[in-house]
Amino acid sequence: MTGDTAGSRIVLRNTLREHASPYDLAGDARAGLSSTPKTLPSKYFYDARGSHLFEMITRLPQYYLTRAETEILEREAGRFVEAVRPRVLVEFGSGAARKTRILLDAMLERGLLEGYGPVDVSAQASRHAADTLIRDYPDIRVEGVIGDFERPRDLPFPGRRRLMAFLGSTIGNLEPVQATAFLTSIRKEMTAADAFLVGFDLVKDVVLLERAYDDEAGVTAKFNLNVLRVLNRDLGASFDLEMFRHRAVWNAGNSRIEMHLESAVEQSVRIQSIGLDVSFAAGETIRTELSHKYTRESAVGLLEASGLRVESWCTDESDRFALALARALG
Ligand code: SAH
Ligand code: AVI
Repeated sequence: MTGDTAGSRIVLRNTLREHASPYDLAGDARAGLSSTPKTLPSKYFYDARGSHLFEMITRLPQYYLTRAETEILEREAGRFVEAVRPRVLVEFGSGAARKTRILLDAMLERGLLEGYGPVDVSAQASRHAADTLIRDYPDIRVEGVIGDFERPRDLPFPGRRRLMAFLGSTIGNLEPVQATAFLTSIRKEMTAADAFLVGFDLVKDVVLLERAYDDEAGVTAKFNLNVLRVLNRDLGASFDLEMFRHRAVWNAGNSRIEMHLESAVEQSVRIQSIGLDVSFAAGETIRTELSHKYTRESAVGLLEASGLRVESWCTDESDRFALALARALG
């Protein structure tokens, strides 16, 4: 256990280096860069710099997702909290936990708020969020996990009535099969009194979607390229970031935006600590992120296939984004 100060109101259990943790940069880089097409999991974007760049993305005019979800939360948080009456909020992929505050405020106003349980791979983002939350919510306890939400062992606050939250459409970063496995694993931890609030980005005009993932200021490009910096620093790789280009493309067949890094030239890159040489043809890409976009039908289908029943479905005024409040079936 790390980050645990005796007597403090913050406990952050670090599970990243536990045996069989799915957070395995060396293993995932070896598998993904040896495969055709080349891939890297998007969870490795989020070191301190990547988490900061993501926060910058959320403020871009083109990146409508955060504003649309905030609009729904501001309108509906009170109703969600009335429906569930949770004592604690457990959040997956919590990051800077900004929108989280809308839910915490709704719980606090009703005299319900006891704890917050963030689960995120980003140690820096989790620590910073926890520090600011205990300052702003004097009676809250933060009991979180720095770890991969795809292996949700020992979720925070067992035995208390929990609202689980998975905001931002991070569900879209998982392949549907992985998403179903993740939602099912959380559903198995839920009691009949708990509920799960899941954010979905909705299918829309392709131009708007591609713009959201390829802004003119180049912030998303920096975010995408950051994964190569992570490999350079943590695996002794020799990627020259000038030799890769950011690409964001709509894949209609799979209803998703894909981010890629395209090699500008034919080149070979050494990854020292895993003894791997990776060859690139000019124009060849590494697929670094999937961002699936849902319809109401496909989102409800995903939740039901995971054993969850949708109790409430809310969209923003422009139907860009949706929040589903769901309960465990049966
Ligand atoms: N919920 C916030 C942040 C979204 S960014 C929002 O809606 O704005 C995605 C977050 O998920 C990042 O903080 C990242 O570190 C985290 N994340 C991505 N993959 C993860 C994984 N497999 N396990 C745990 N956290 C993950
Ligand atoms: C965190 N996740 C939901 C973001 C998304 O929209 O898929 C990550 C992101 N990638 C590029 N911009 C933002």
